[in-house]
Amino acid sequence: MTPSFALNFDTLARSLPDALCLVSRDGILLGANAGARRLLQLDSPDGVPVTLADIFAGPRDEFAQFMTQCARTSEPVPGGFVLRAGNGTVTPCILSGHLIHSTSADVPPAILLRIQTKSEFVRGFTVLNEKIRELEHEILRRTQAQQELQHHQEHLEELVEERTRELRVANKELEAFCYSVSHDLRAPLRAIDGFSRVLAEDHGENLEPGAHAALERMRAAAQRMGVVIDELLALSRITRAQLEVEGVDLTELAHDALARLRESDPHRHVTAHIAEGLHARGDPDLLSVALDNLLGNAWKYTVNVDEATIELFARTEGEEVVYIVRDNGAGFDMRFADKLFRPFERLHRVDEFPGIGIGLAIVQRVVHRHGGRIWAEGAVNAGANFYFTLSA
Ligand SMILES: Nc1ncnc2c1ncn2[C@@H]1O[C@H](COP(=O)(O)OP(=O)(O)OP(=O)(O)O)[C@@H](O)[C@H]1O
Ligand SMILES: [Mg+2]
Repeated sequence: MTPSFALNFDTLARSLPDALCLVSRDGILLGANAGARRLLQLDSPDGVPVTLADIFAGPRDEFAQFMTQCARTSEPVPGGFVLRAGNGTVTPCILSGHLIHSTSADVPPAILLRIQTKSEFVRGFTVLNEKIRELEHEILRRTQAQQELQHHQEHLEELVEERTRELRVANKELEAFCYSVSHDLRAPLRAIDGFSRVLAEDHGENLEPGAHAALERMRAAAQRMGVVIDELLALSRITRAQLEVEGVDLTELAHDALARLRESDPHRHVTAHIAEGLHARGDPDLLSVALDNLLGNAWKYTVNVDEATIELFARTEGEEVVYIVRDNGAGFDMRFADKLFRPFERLHRVDEFPGIGIGLAIVQRVVHRHGGRIWAEGAVNAGANFYFTLSA
């Protein structure tokens, strides 16, 4: 084999399973890889030139024509010929040949021939056909998926709008239902309270002492239920109220809330740090309700602390202003933090800290109505922090 071709041809050809031959333009076999040696049974001793004409079993001029065509182009030229192997067997083959150039200028170009037996070719063709079918199937599947995706994308916006509308209607209906049920419950409750009072006052002497106590408990329960209903109505009103957005001075609202707390409980000594100049945009009435509840809680849950301190301040986080109400009171167990904002859920016993558990549910609704978020952090006996944002 010509040395300059030897390296390239050997390294390349050995790694390929096909039968490959390198042939000079005048038809001398320059090299053959293992596939070609096997197929053509080439066992001529090294150094004895084999011409392709020796292994070609068909009409010579057709073969010569084929080789001339291959010698002219670097695009593969196909051809079908009968080849004779070294052991004399003849095999119909599919050939494909083209001219390749050596990297070295003094080595002339040669023809690379790829030889496949017809049966190999047919097998390859069948495999190819199957691959094409698989590919077609895959393309179809992807096209359908793409179409479906597009369809969903086009309808997604509509769907979201429709669902939001439905949800809004359902919410309104639920609120209206809650409101009217709560309202309707008040009258029978008042009757229970009133008639049990009449019974105690007008017919008290005919009743046994145990019956008196039972009547008292009945009245207390009816009154507590009345409070719960009032709170439910308050909660419902927060959701139904029209939002009147304007500039709100939170510092002022907080001072007012604290003044009311001090007035209602003049014996307590509570230090309050309210940051100056806390301005926000929102509904002043609803924000006042929220601050009343947050500061009211801070006031209530610091009752057992010697030096009770309540703070309201803000910090900027990125684009957002976060308002913080902090106290150094009873705190709470963070494991139950997700319960804080649920109506009527409480983390403290009512004999320790009175209340019905609606305040934070109201605050959360106010914050949500302003497009904000609310969350809390605390630890038992180590105070609590309530954080909220507003984006109305
Ligand atoms: N500042 C706080 N420190 C410790 N725990 C708190 C604080 N604020 C709220 N909590 C806990 O969260 C629960 C829910 O608070 P929420 O304000 O909703 O109800 P409440 O204060 O118990 O009653 P209400 O506000 O209806 O009078 C409280 O029962 C309490 O366990
Ligand atoms: Mg409260």
